[in-house]
Amino acid sequence: MNSKSPLQRNVFPTRKLVVGCLLPVLLLGSVVVWLSLHVQPAVRMPVSRLPASTREARHEDYVGSQACASCHASQVNQHARSGHARTFYRTDDGRFDSQVDGRQFKDPERGVTFHYHAGPGGLSVTLPERFPDDAFPLHFGLGSGHHAISFMTLVPGTDGRAVGIEHRVSLFGEDHEPGLTPSHRGQAVTQEVEHFGRVRSPELLDRCLGCHTTTYRREGLKLTELQPHVGCESCHGPARRHVEQMQHGTIGDTLGLTAISWTATEQIRRCGECHRRPDMLESPLEPDNLKLVRYAPVGILQTACYRKSEGRLSCTTCHDPHRPVSRDAQHYETRCLSCHSAEPAQQVSCKVSSQKGCIACHMPQVEVHPGMSMSDHWIRVRGADGLMSKER
Ligand code: HEC
Ligand code: HEC
Ligand code: HEC
Ligand code: HEC
Ligand code: HEC
Ligand code: HEC
Ligand code: HEC
Repeated sequence: MNSKSPLQRNVFPTRKLVVGCLLPVLLLGSVVVWLSLHVQPAVRMPVSRLPASTREARHEDYVGSQACASCHASQVNQHARSGHARTFYRTDDGRFDSQVDGRQFKDPERGVTFHYHAGPGGLSVTLPERFPDDAFPLHFGLGSGHHAISFMTLVPGTDGRAVGIEHRVSLFGEDHEPGLTPSHRGQAVTQEVEHFGRVRSPELLDRCLGCHTTTYRREGLKLTELQPHVGCESCHGPARRHVEQMQHGTIGDTLGLTAISWTATEQIRRCGECHRRPDMLESPLEPDNLKLVRYAPVGILQTACYRKSEGRLSCTTCHDPHRPVSRDAQHYETRCLSCHSAEPAQQVSCKVSSQKGCIACHMPQVEVHPGMSMSDHWIRVRGADGLMSKER
């Protein structure tokens, strides 16, 4: 890097920055430049809660999902194929190399082209039109890829704590098509690093990691004691004691394995610690608010099926928490009919179609982002506009 590098301009200069910026660069090359910038954590978001497991437990109480395999083989095998087992990756494990290496993406708003590279240290991206000599690293990939994968980089903030840079480009759908990350549209650049992505405050970074991993400790820019993905212990709590007891044949005390004894309401709220609950929303709880479609627990808690069924409707009425989500409408319609069949007469059944087609009419897929649709869990009668009629 020479003294005219744009990286030295415009980035909330502090003394620390100058020292941090030059030394590593001389020693290690240009990718490091970005990691030694001190970025202003501009975005302030209200802090909501992390999953209970991450919040309260000690890291050493976690044993990892593989430790369950010897005794709970079926849950472990099924879970390994589910979206929960694919929520967080380090990019240096090579998983994304073939999809990303050599690829280019032209930013439709800013006109510049991102170039992607894979190497032993993980992925990196360049913007040759702006920064001819510098590559920006991409440390982690979040999301299974069914809908999308977004990349995150840890850099030091002005106060020394790590902030996250959420990359401007994400990969969408099973074909991993690059596109602008949701919420990055129209985003202005106020400091150099924002050419590559949005600055996520230390608090928000911890929330991303809290929902997408089972446990981790953040030391400076490093994640240690990382159990990636939503593992068994994300829902059942740390299980070291259970495993030790079971190995020693001390039957009777399975303390800490919470999920099994949740009531419907408790379960919806617990799944909602990640899938979002009404009290975590930043937008209004209204029937025609399309943003709510992403948040299954919010919809379920509003629906008459939950409110009028005396605790009989929960997430596990329709989803096996250990299996990949079923994409078969019939699987779900069987569940609807367990409460809405024409017989017995005390159940409320559908006058329009009493046997089939329930999901398409009452839980349609709604586009939440161009090219990304999700099922609306606010089960209700919809108006002629097809989607968001008021609840009756
Ligand atoms: C050495 C064998 C063994 C290992 C390893 C083991 N379990 Fe278990 N687990 C058992 C047995 C046996 C039971 C049934 C105990 C009972 O019903 O009292 C059980 C029960 C459970 C239950 C149901 C609890 C309930 O209240 O009915 C859950 C949930 C569970 N285990 C989760 C886990 C998780 C998560 C792991 C890995 C982190 C794990 N187990 C590792 C043997 C094991
Ligand atoms: C620790 C956070 C966390 C908890 C707790 C959690 N989830 Fe998830 N869940 C996720 C994330 C993250 C994804 C996204 C995976 C992806 O990118 O496709 C997900 C995906 C899913 C999917 C789609 C899975 C697939 O195979 O494509 C279903 C269904 C689901 N969760 C249901 C539940 C239910 C039911 C519960 C409660 C019993 C629950 N989740 C609890 C974080 C969580
Ligand atoms: C409160 C928990 C929570 C937080 C915080 C969180 N996620 Fe997620 N994330 C989820 C869940 C649950 C899903 C799956 C369902 C959905 O899409 O909402 C998901 C899905 C995703 C996906 C897959 C695409 C998609 O929408 O299904 C990506 C990519 C992603 N998250 C990235 C991030 C990033 C980056 C951050 C931080 C800026 C973040 N998440 C913060 C819970 C969370
Ligand atoms: C998304 C949350 C979630 C994850 C992840 C999860 N479980 Fe469960 N698990 C549950 C819930 C909820 C129940 C209660 C099932 C019910 O009510 O039908 C349960 C029940 C169980 C049971 C009791 C028997 C049964 O199948 O109902 C065992 C054993 C178990 N889980 C083991 C595991 C193991 C091992 C893993 C990791 C491979 C795991 N679970 C991952 C939520 C989860
Ligand atoms: C655990 C039982 C249960 C399940 C499962 C269930 N429902 Fe319901 N649902 C109810 C109850 C109870 C009501 C309220 C009926 C009344 O008005 O008395 C209701 C109401 C409804 C309504 C009317 C909503 C309104 O606002 O008036 C629709 C539409 C509906 N359910 C569709 C479905 C569909 C579609 C499924 C499957 C995806 C489903 N339900 C699954 C119990 C259930
Ligand atoms: C009445 C049945 C029903 C209940 C109850 C239910 N879901 Fe679903 N869920 C569905 C259907 C239908 C789909 C769409 C499956 C498909 O893509 O074909 C779905 C899909 C999902 C997905 C994947 C979204 C996507 O498009 O990839 C997630 C995540 C999810 N549900 C979470 C939850 C959570 C969390 C709860 C509890 C708060 C819950 N669901 C309760 C029926 C249900
Ligand atoms: C073609 C679209 C369509 C299909 C398919 C469909 N519904 Fe409906 N459903 C409606 C409409 C429209 C209403 C409102 C009817 C009215 O108010 O007269 C309704 C009403 C209902 C109600 C409220 C009944 C009441 O009297 O309050 C329930 C419950 C319901 N549907 C459940 C189901 C179930 C379960 C299935 C699948 C077996 C299903 N629906 C299939 C469109 C559909």
